[in-house]
Amino acid sequence: MAVTIRPLIAGNWKMNGMRSSLGEAQAVAAALDASLSQLSVDVMLAPPATLILALSLSLANSRLSIAGQDCHPAAAGAHTGDVSAEMLRDAGAAAVIVGHSERRSNHAETSAMVRAKAAAAHRAGMTAIICVGETLGERNANLTLDVVQRQLADSIPPGSTAADTVIAYEPVWAIGTGLTAAAADVAPVHATIRSDLTRVFGDEGRMMRILYGGSVKPDNAATLLAVGDVNGLLVGGASLTAREFLAILGTYNSHV
Ligand code: PGA
Repeated sequence: MAVTIRPLIAGNWKMNGMRSSLGEAQAVAAALDASLSQLSVDVMLAPPATLILALSLSLANSRLSIAGQDCHPAAAGAHTGDVSAEMLRDAGAAAVIVGHSERRSNHAETSAMVRAKAAAAHRAGMTAIICVGETLGERNANLTLDVVQRQLADSIPPGSTAADTVIAYEPVWAIGTGLTAAAADVAPVHATIRSDLTRVFGDEGRMMRILYGGSVKPDNAATLLAVGDVNGLLVGGASLTAREFLAILGTYNSHV
C-alpha cells in the first residue's frame, strides 16, 4: 500500500556560520512562514552548536526547526568539549544529526557509537538523523549496498520509530565535491534502505523518512526528490545562503 510521507529538507551548516549568519536563517524562516506556508514539507537547519540558542530564540514562532550536528551518548558528565542531546534540546534543538561521514572519518566514530548517540537523542525527546553512505573505493568495489546495509543494521537503536528517526543516505564521494549521485545510483540504495527498515521496524520503518545528501544544489534537487523513496534532502554547502536554500525549497514547491 502506498503511504504518504511528509518530506524533510534539512540544511547542515557544518563548522560554518558566525553570529552574522543568523540573518541567513532568519531570511529562510521569514520566506517559509510567508510564501511557503502552504508547503507540506518540514524544514530544518543544523547550525554550529554556538548558534543554536540564539537561533531558536529568534525563530520561536517559525516553521523552521533547529538541529544539532552531533551529540555525546551520555546526558552529562566529565566529557570535556562534548555536548549532550539534553543540552541541545535545552538550547532549542528538536533533532540531531548523528553518524555524519565527517564524524565517522575525522573522529573514528563506529556504527555502535552512532547507535548510542541516536539512542541519546531519543532519550532527550529528539529526532535522530542517522547518516549512512559508502566511500568511492567501496562503490567502485561494488560494495555500496553491503556497506550501507551494515551501517544501517548497526546504527539504528531498537524501538526506533518514524517520528523519532530519519535516515540520510549520503555517499561520501558526493559530499562537498560537486559530484552528485545520479538518480540511477540513488534509487537502488533508497529502495534497499526502505526494504531493510520495513523488515526490521514494520510500519514504522515503512514511514521513516530517508533523505538524500551530497552536493544537492538548486539545479539537481528536483531530480533527486523525484527518485522513489527519497523523502527529502540533507543539504550542506547550498544551505549556507538563504538564496540557494530557498531555491532548493522552491524546487520542492514545483515538484509537488
Ligand atoms: P554538501 O554536504 O551538500 O556540501 O555536499 C552534504 C552533507 O555533508 O550533509
